[in-house]
Amino acid sequence: MRSTSRPVILTGDRTTGALHLGHYVGSLRNRVELQHTHQQYVLLADSQALTDNADHPGKVRRSVMEVATDYLAVGIDPSLSTICLQSALPALAELTLLYLNFVSVARLERNPTIKDEIQARGFGRDIPAGFLCYPAAQAADITAFKATVVPVGEDQAPIIKQTNELVRRLNRQIGRALLPEAKALIPTTGRLPGVDGKAKMSKSQGNAIPLSASDAEIATAVQRMYTDPNHLRASDPGQVEGNVVFTYLDAFDPDAEAVAELKADYRRGGLGDMVLKRRLTGILQSIIAPIRDRRSELAADPDTIMDILRAGAERGRQVTEQTKMEIIEGLNLFRL
Ligand code: TRP
Repeated sequence: MRSTSRPVILTGDRTTGALHLGHYVGSLRNRVELQHTHQQYVLLADSQALTDNADHPGKVRRSVMEVATDYLAVGIDPSLSTICLQSALPALAELTLLYLNFVSVARLERNPTIKDEIQARGFGRDIPAGFLCYPAAQAADITAFKATVVPVGEDQAPIIKQTNELVRRLNRQIGRALLPEAKALIPTTGRLPGVDGKAKMSKSQGNAIPLSASDAEIATAVQRMYTDPNHLRASDPGQVEGNVVFTYLDAFDPDAEAVAELKADYRRGGLGDMVLKRRLTGILQSIIAPIRDRRSELAADPDTIMDILRAGAERGRQVTEQTKMEIIEGLNLFRL
């Protein structure tokens, strides 16, 4: 069914809540394209979600179905992509434990992604050990699928770098290039800001537009959007840079020329925020409506989703068990 000569992609999301428009522009949209040219595995990273959610296992569990529903609703097609539940693939956990012997605590602590998180959340020495070690776990994910392309946000680039260090270390120990190095595929479109203008759209910040948003919710979110605080009257010249409505139009409006004209009008003065917001509302509603409808159809049929997850796990187990055996043999470890 799939050509094995296609480059292998591994991508995925921590299951910590339903996905939103930020995920849609940053990754989901690309996955729908890439599944036609690549052998794509999409990981529901529930084990990784637990590394900083040990207090919220219920959230992690419930989010598995939520995120799976989002995947299918945006058009990730289980006949083209394999959706894998991380916790259903024991080889990933086994490889993680093995890989932890090939990396030092100092190196894990130096990982910029980890360092930033320790800082941002004030973990200090109380960082959960699983969280500190998640770069090794992600290296296990990536190598178990022998993925060479890993689409991730910019903040994840250091994880891929560390994965490749582990790949080289393991290959050196094994004595041949058993595992391929992976390339991070970072989206060229910048991160979508929250509706409040904060740098990142995030459910926990309450500034996200979920893929299940109703037309009214979309309208309200756009209404609240940050524009130019000095643009008090329509006749005033307005600023486009840092204006969230324009950032969103750049990301979603299919008519780039029209957006360029609107920007010129806005700068000149004479174009009101309301006109822009009405345009953006219509565009977002037309993008989200089919996703939302598909989402509710799917949500009404959880058995079908479960079947897709079971089939994906089955396929994922085959691939990851195979790689695990190759590594064990490569390292010449004892086998009963
Ligand atoms: N760490 C990724 C994120 O937070 C999720 C993830 C887990 C992942 N395993 C992966 C992404 C493997 C790509 C490949 O977004």
